[in-house]
Amino acid sequence: MSRLQGIRACVFDAYGTIFDFGSAAARCAGIPEDKRGALTALWRDKQLQYTWLRSLQGRYADFWQVTGEALDFTLESLGIATPALRSRLMDLYLTLSAFPEVPDTLRRLRDAGFVTAILSNGSPSMLDAAVRGAGLHDLLDAVLSADVPGVFKTDPRVYQYGLDTLGLTAAQVSFQSSNAWDAFAASAFGMRVVWCNRYGQQPERLPGAPDHEVRSLADLPALLAPAG
Ligand code: LAC
Repeated sequence: MSRLQGIRACVFDAYGTIFDFGSAAARCAGIPEDKRGALTALWRDKQLQYTWLRSLQGRYADFWQVTGEALDFTLESLGIATPALRSRLMDLYLTLSAFPEVPDTLRRLRDAGFVTAILSNGSPSMLDAAVRGAGLHDLLDAVLSADVPGVFKTDPRVYQYGLDTLGLTAAQVSFQSSNAWDAFAASAFGMRVVWCNRYGQQPERLPGAPDHEVRSLADLPALLAPAG
């Protein structure tokens, strides 16, 4: 196994990678048990589709709005739409659980001299709430939102915004995402990529080739040569 050389910063996708978006429906009372899984999957699928479609159309709206509109579609599709349920689920999206290995992994990376950051489609206030709710604010050097370039991943401007803000080249960044489409796009952009394939996805048939594939972020520190 060859370690990634010359890495200065570890940059993470947020939803699905650091934060478990399934924890919103899992913690929400009032959802019929047989609809919980479908709600999580459809909500996520629609949320992502809307980011891509809005980016294609040049009609950006922030991730909070997109997430709410995706939830409206989902609740109606499942026949369980009520204002109270919508409001509960949106509130829970602000305090998603972090995956269990995340705090320790960030601590190990920091101790080894790496800069740590999030680069996410999430709006600044959503990310701030999630980071604070999970107690990660002291373990991250930067929390960067696609809201600044005003377009969503996989537009290269988002990855470029991450580099510009950190003052690094693509080759100095190890990008981690559990979303195959995001991992492949960051690789095609030029970053080193560790695909955290938590969900056992198939590789995308798209440009890019992640440098490593792991099942948990706990495996990340061993993949990086010591920070220079
Ligand atoms: C993000 C979503 C797309 O955090 O996972 O950017």
